[in-house]
Amino acid sequence: MTRITLITGASRGLGRNTALAVARAGGDVVLTYRNGADEAQAVVAEIQALGRKAHALQLDVGDAASFPAFADALRAALAETWQRERIDHLVNNAGHGDTAPFAETTQAQFDRLVDVHFKGTFFLTQALLPLIADGGRIVNLSSGLTRFAFPGYAAYAAAKGAVEVLSRYLAKELGPRGIAVNTVAPGAIETDFGGGVVRDNPQVNAQLAGITALGRVGVPDDIGPMIASLLGDAHRWVTGQRIEVSGGQAL
Ligand SMILES: NC(=O)c1ccc[n+]([C@@H]2O[C@H](COP(=O)([O-])OP(=O)(O)OC[C@H]3O[C@@H](n4cnc5c(N)ncnc54)[C@H](OP(=O)(O)O)[C@@H]3O)[C@@H](O)[C@H]2O)c1
Repeated sequence: MTRITLITGASRGLGRNTALAVARAGGDVVLTYRNGADEAQAVVAEIQALGRKAHALQLDVGDAASFPAFADALRAALAETWQRERIDHLVNNAGHGDTAPFAETTQAQFDRLVDVHFKGTFFLTQALLPLIADGGRIVNLSSGLTRFAFPGYAAYAAAKGAVEVLSRYLAKELGPRGIAVNTVAPGAIETDFGGGVVRDNPQVNAQLAGITALGRVGVPDDIGPMIASLLGDAHRWVTGQRIEVSGGQAL
């Protein structure tokens, strides 16, 4: 049976790239967007053009109170598009960047980063547990910034660090259901993330390329196919791991 992967924040960037890579590998996709309904529908159309099924749903992962209603919407989408009751894979990808020196980080910035990246991953996964098939997979997105420290990312990186710890606990607690849980930690990638600074600021781009073993910053195609591969049969025995996909940034 065709596997169904739910990817949060797949209207753009790494989520979009992952959705297309999953479809190219023969999977179907439920993708979520926060604001970009038109962009999400364009991704649905691209997946359908590859001969796979897709469905887009609105979701703010920073609004945990909305998760029960989202689970209902997912249930309805699965019934409508697939006549199925469960997804096989969950990729917790959605998120934003926000930088400030530690001394100037506001509680509002901190709360939003923690709500989106950590609380969102925690309680969305909890809300969707009954909708994830036994033997399924969960991939949580972290960042290279949990291993190396760049000034300005204290709150963001700490929230991602919490996601990495959570992933290990999920691997342990969901193991009896045959669900494998891993963290993928990208290095700097050229997307809209953080205002598109890695892609659009030549100085930042060159500086990051200079501290990366493979000699350049990442592009979405460095990440999406890797996640699609991690969701494939060849990686069924990998769980509880943090896999950095950074081209060797700051080794
Ligand atoms: N790019 C990098 O350098 C990099 C490095 C390490 C880790 N990461 C992580 O990779 C993930 C994806 O980043 P990206 O580079 O693909 O970013 P991006 O290009 O800015 O795309 C972000 C995506 O997430 C959605 N989104 C943002 N905030 C959301 C929220 N509160 N609720 C629901 N959806 C939300 C956006 O939806 P709408 O457009 O509809 O609002 C969009 O689809 C993030 O978790 C990020 O922390 C990125």
